[in-house]
Amino acid sequence: MKSTNVTWHESNVTKEHRQELNNHKSPVLWFTGLSGSGKSTVSVALEKALHERGIHSYRLDGDNVRHGLNKNLGFSPEDRTENIRRIGEVAKLMNDAGLVTLTAFISPYREDRDQVRELLEEGEFIEVYVKCSLEECEKRDPKGLYEKARSGEIKGFTGIDAPYEEPNSPEVVVETDRQTLDESVETIINHLVENKLI
Ligand code: PPS
Repeated sequence: MKSTNVTWHESNVTKEHRQELNNHKSPVLWFTGLSGSGKSTVSVALEKALHERGIHSYRLDGDNVRHGLNKNLGFSPEDRTENIRRIGEVAKLMNDAGLVTLTAFISPYREDRDQVRELLEEGEFIEVYVKCSLEECEKRDPKGLYEKARSGEIKGFTGIDAPYEEPNSPEVVVETDRQTLDESVETIINHLVENKLI
């Protein structure tokens, strides 16, 4: 059901005030990639590196968010779209709060990711493609889910019998089957510094 009779209230303290106080911008770093590609690992390491630089950040992670806010959602195409829509709205609130937001979701559909991009101002959505071959992800299989998907125990698993749409022009690409973790973190930090976001 849609809400009616709701009015937007402006604050006296704006996003720009908060960014000024923090001394950095508040981009949304949107990690996307296959299960097991390293989204969580890279975003956890990046969060630590940002924290050590005095940057105010917060990380939203697939499995964690699905324990709370999105616990009523499964993995059908519709539920995945709703999952990403809600995370996008949360990320926008964090962007307004002046935080650097790191999100780590498969987010398999290009259109869903583009919808989140649309929510934000130009230059605030940084799509980070965590690129890793399916073969390598399957070899890693940290949660044993690929094995279950191959045996048919899990249906609709991304990369096996559900699609993953690669980004067409991501702001940053990290290749976790070629780069070390430190190199991936450095690649992202360099992008943020070069674009005067931090
Ligand atoms: S999505 O597609 O963006 O809505 O997915 P996300 O919220 O990131 O959740 C992905 C994690 O859920 C586990 N899992 C599955 N992934 C893909 N397909 C299916 N069917 C599935 N079922 C459970 C899996 O652990 C994913 O975690 P990551 O960290 O990506 O490996």
